[in-house]
Amino acid sequence: MEIIILPTPADVGRVAASLIARVVNEKPAAVLGLATGSSPQDIYRSLAARVEAGELDVSQASGFALDEYVGIPLDHPESYASVIARDVVEPLGMDPAKVRVPDGRADDIEAATREYDEAIAAAGGVDIQILGIGANGHIGFNEPTSSIASRTRIKTLAPSTREANARFFDDPADVPTHCLTQGLGTILDAKAVVLVAQGAGKADAIAAAVEGPVSAMCPGSALQLHRHATIIVDEAAASKLT
Ligand code: F6R
Repeated sequence: MEIIILPTPADVGRVAASLIARVVNEKPAAVLGLATGSSPQDIYRSLAARVEAGELDVSQASGFALDEYVGIPLDHPESYASVIARDVVEPLGMDPAKVRVPDGRADDIEAATREYDEAIAAAGGVDIQILGIGANGHIGFNEPTSSIASRTRIKTLAPSTREANARFFDDPADVPTHCLTQGLGTILDAKAVVLVAQGAGKADAIAAAVEGPVSAMCPGSALQLHRHATIIVDEAAASKLT
């Protein structure tokens, strides 16, 4: 695990974007693992600026989102399909046909999640997976107690995660109770992972993920088992590291 501590959230986004740009420049048809939420927004903005400046071309790359809510329409502005289209595919000029999000509306969820993992494998695996981390240590929506070997599946969102994500919805009661998420095992299969965290609210989770025991109680700690994991944090998120 490599830990990079930087002064500001903008620095975190810029340096993480450099890692991703390097992968895409070396392999234009790279497979990107895409997170949603606030944490990767500076990464996407920084990548979009490079695309705009003609320094980066992501048009041949493909992408797999980490997760999706169950129980909201595909065209809901906060479905991760909508968020990925708005915040990633459009600004980066990715090919929408090459970007997939788990299907939270599938009739047969088990088949849909199994097929999602098969599609990642068929694409040759994720070259670089972008991750944020929840205040309770979740990555993807693998909440505490998730198996480190887990694959893409349906999960119940922790009450604290629903509360944290209520900021994206008009009414806290509208936050879905369930989601589909890549499993910890699926995430660990990525060739490289880059996790970003900003702010004091993530300091406990970062300390537990980086310095705590590898434990299902802190899903982010599973990244200690990965051979090419980079954790990029600002000083506030690093404040509880020893
Ligand atoms: C999002 C995801 C989640 C978020 C985490 C942190 O696709 O999988 O693990 O990364 O909930 O969310 P933010 O970045 O909004 O603090």
